[in-house]
Amino acid sequence: MNAKIKLIKTDITKLHVNAIVNAANSSLRGGGGVDGAIHRAAGRQLLNECKTLNGCATGDAKITAAYKLPANYVIHAVGPVWHGGKYGEADKLRSAYRRSLEIAVENNLKTIAFPNISTGVYGFPKKQAAEIAITTVSDFLSENEQIEQVIFAVFDDENLQIYNELLRS
Ligand code: APR
Repeated sequence: MNAKIKLIKTDITKLHVNAIVNAANSSLRGGGGVDGAIHRAAGRQLLNECKTLNGCATGDAKITAAYKLPANYVIHAVGPVWHGGKYGEADKLRSAYRRSLEIAVENNLKTIAFPNISTGVYGFPKKQAAEIAITTVSDFLSENEQIEQVIFAVFDDENLQIYNELLRS
């Protein structure tokens, strides 16, 4: 496992990192799940800034300040809704992780935490999503020295076990 990758079971809103990634929707107007938790913890100024961004395409990401969160920035990534796997969902999820990392590098950020994008409301199978997350992050870290740490912030024991097994193998 890449020494720069950490796995923590935690509420991502508690992390003192340069950026936490939000599993957002294309409107960037907030929602449930981790999106709801991040907006609740950041306060209403986060939504005000999101409203200036004119949405975000699936597979892309946009950065905002983090307001009341301990993190410095929020990178809002829009993952795909799972429709069975034949509609480019894997590529879109890969892109959501990669664009988040590219934006972190563009903003000279060193530490970034990801939730398990698309595996909640959007229904992406957890194991396949974890494989995509880990390979995309590992490949990016092998090409970019600037990032010092990537945290996979899992929120449930199923994802914790999946990531543990994949990161050990
Ligand atoms: N910290 C870390 N992870 C969390 C937290 C939290 N506080 N709350 C939820 N999660 C986890 C979920 O358990 C799941 O593993 O985040 C993962 C992503 O699930 P969702 O938040 O449902 O995100 P997603 O599946 O990408 O669906 C996005 O849901 O909330 C709406 O506005 C959002 O429309 C968008 C959709």
